[in-house]
Amino acid sequence: MGIVFEEKQRVFKLDAGDTTYMIGLAGEEGFAGHLYFGKRLNDCMTDDLLRVTEPPFAPDTNNRDRISFMDALPFEYASHGVGDFRDSSIRVRTVGGTTAVSPVYHSHKIYAGKPGIDGMPAVFGKEEECMTLELMLKDEALKLKVVLYYTVFEKLPVIVRHAKICNESENTLWLTKAMSACLDMDNRDYEMITLHGAWARERHIQRQKIGYGSQGVESLRGETGHQEQPFLAVCAPEATQRSGEVYGFHLIYSGNFKVRAQINQFDLLRVNIGINDEDFTWQLKQGESFDTPEAVLVYSDQGIGGMSRAFHDLYRNHLIRSPYVFEKRPVLINNWEATYFDFNTEKLLQIAEKAAESGIEMLVMDDGWFGHREDDNSSLGDWYVNEEKIKGGLKNLVDKVNALGLKFGIWFEPEMISPDSELYREHPDWAIAIPGRTPSMARGQYVLDLTRKEVRDYIFERMEEILSGANIEYVKWDMNRPLSDIAGAKLPPGQMGEFYHRYVLGVYEMQERLVSRFPKLLLENCSGGGARFDPGMLYYSPQIWCSDDTDAIERLSIQEGTAMIYPLSCMGAHVSVCPNHTVGRNTPFFTRGITALAGTFGYELDITKLPKEEVEAIPGQVELYHRFAELIVRGDYYRLVSTTEGKGCDCYMVVDKEKENALLSYVQVQGRPNCHSRNVRMQGLKEDVLYTVKGIGADYEKTLRGDALMYAGVQIPELWGDYQGMLLEIHARR
Ligand code: GLA
Repeated sequence: MGIVFEEKQRVFKLDAGDTTYMIGLAGEEGFAGHLYFGKRLNDCMTDDLLRVTEPPFAPDTNNRDRISFMDALPFEYASHGVGDFRDSSIRVRTVGGTTAVSPVYHSHKIYAGKPGIDGMPAVFGKEEECMTLELMLKDEALKLKVVLYYTVFEKLPVIVRHAKICNESENTLWLTKAMSACLDMDNRDYEMITLHGAWARERHIQRQKIGYGSQGVESLRGETGHQEQPFLAVCAPEATQRSGEVYGFHLIYSGNFKVRAQINQFDLLRVNIGINDEDFTWQLKQGESFDTPEAVLVYSDQGIGGMSRAFHDLYRNHLIRSPYVFEKRPVLINNWEATYFDFNTEKLLQIAEKAAESGIEMLVMDDGWFGHREDDNSSLGDWYVNEEKIKGGLKNLVDKVNALGLKFGIWFEPEMISPDSELYREHPDWAIAIPGRTPSMARGQYVLDLTRKEVRDYIFERMEEILSGANIEYVKWDMNRPLSDIAGAKLPPGQMGEFYHRYVLGVYEMQERLVSRFPKLLLENCSGGGARFDPGMLYYSPQIWCSDDTDAIERLSIQEGTAMIYPLSCMGAHVSVCPNHTVGRNTPFFTRGITALAGTFGYELDITKLPKEEVEAIPGQVELYHRFAELIVRGDYYRLVSTTEGKGCDCYMVVDKEKENALLSYVQVQGRPNCHSRNVRMQGLKEDVLYTVKGIGADYEKTLRGDALMYAGVQIPELWGDYQGMLLEIHARR
């Protein structure tokens, strides 16, 4: 690890893990140009990569062709309006109405460690673990300072970037675009991978060629959304899970985002990542500054798998702050798919009693315990226990659940307000709405204006009272609709473009308060399933509900896409009943269990109504969870066969860091006629170590060296029927 500035060449060289990132200062002006991001290099590159000596690209000696220069220079942070016609990184409106901005090098700082960002999630690291470069750029015409932050980590092929933009002029300026990072490189027939989805079908993998022009992903929903993820990977056409070059881009943010890949006339590829500039304006008065969210850039020459493991290690070690990050999570049972709104103290205790007998460790009371909520038409905002349902009160229920040996968890949807609620009757203006326009409802509810402190304070205090009134050890923080009809009752007209970002800052502030006030609380974020599954949320909660779709087969695709960037330990995954409530599919209980094992593991069913043989299988599943939890929480993830490849099966592996213990999970999506065993090549083991390999759910036992397991592979026996699965437990022989 290290960051140096080579004065003679005017090059910054940042070494991170096995990678090098280089920035060169171009021309007399000192444009910050991007030189290189890739495999570790020993030497600094000269500036021919920046093309400054090629005619007509010589702006300081000949302003005549500056436009050609600007449109071809690989920029670190793309200017706007002065000749680079590609997608810009920044746009600034002045009192005079102009929008151009072109910051150039002014000075820099290099130091050990990494600063945080006020009010926002950010990667962290100790001084001995990481180094930071602050590259200060200035636009003298605007008197605008742009500080680009780059942090590298000792052991990770990762660059974390963000920008701080400061108004040093006497006049007010308005940012109308402020991206987090930009990366320019030569296009080498690159392809891109993004994750798309819908409610109950989140984060499916899409891979396509990057064409000329612009393409990418974005959200305008005020949250991340089910539909697209703030992630884009650029990969060589030959890149696979195991090999080839891959660049991963991910934004640590939970609101409107945009990640765009663009190839221009010179075959230069630009990736810009940051807050979506649509409906975004940020007023900067004299002396004020704005911080963009952080973007994570990963380089892998070990294929998509190498990228995944870099993201996983960064997030587990340097983003998730929860004390649970490397802990086994309690096996929970959630009553949502068990009862929906139809429950009371007695019903919950029946579930808890049976759950305790099976080794389940926590009961989570989901939606419907407050106000007079009997369906989704009322009471959001009225965070008072409904004592007609929860007879004897919440403390009584929690104490009884605890007495059964179970922890207790509870559901909130803090950001919402139902028109039929005491809160709405008292404060109709707290719901987001544009005066004179009927606001659009979704799931019968409006969104609270969390840009207002009094609204945040009120909701937080209600939550605090509930949480301090009983021994509640887990909270599921839900968010069940996107934002629309944007207007902030307290925002002046000139600052309405700040609403979306201020809303996200409001959510961050509330979650920060929650985890500071209750430091031992296990927080799980959720949004109509997985609509706010993003790295921003991981800063506050070590796990996020993956999807409302608990069908084991649909989950294979959802969890594969999610695990491409997120550690398994943060994927909320539960076993539910069949036919599945979302897709009506029947799958074996064993397969449902091993699929949920890929995440936090729990149950989402009425255990009092479950068939006897399934109830009897639960203790065995819970035992498997305990046996493999440490491996799943800490291990390295390898995707062996993709569910999406059309091979009719799904297979992944987790290997501990010592490469001594591993777990292979295999699900045969469809039985195949006249087929025999299937060969699967393992990954991540030591070549010269002897391993015992034992089947769980199917007969298999072998002792083989790592090289045989990885290069010749194992024969997974043919399983009888659709949706069958098995596990292989792998241990180095001592
Ligand atoms: C969302 C969540 C579910 C459940 C319901 C309750 O859909 O994703 O898990 O909590 O809300 O209304």
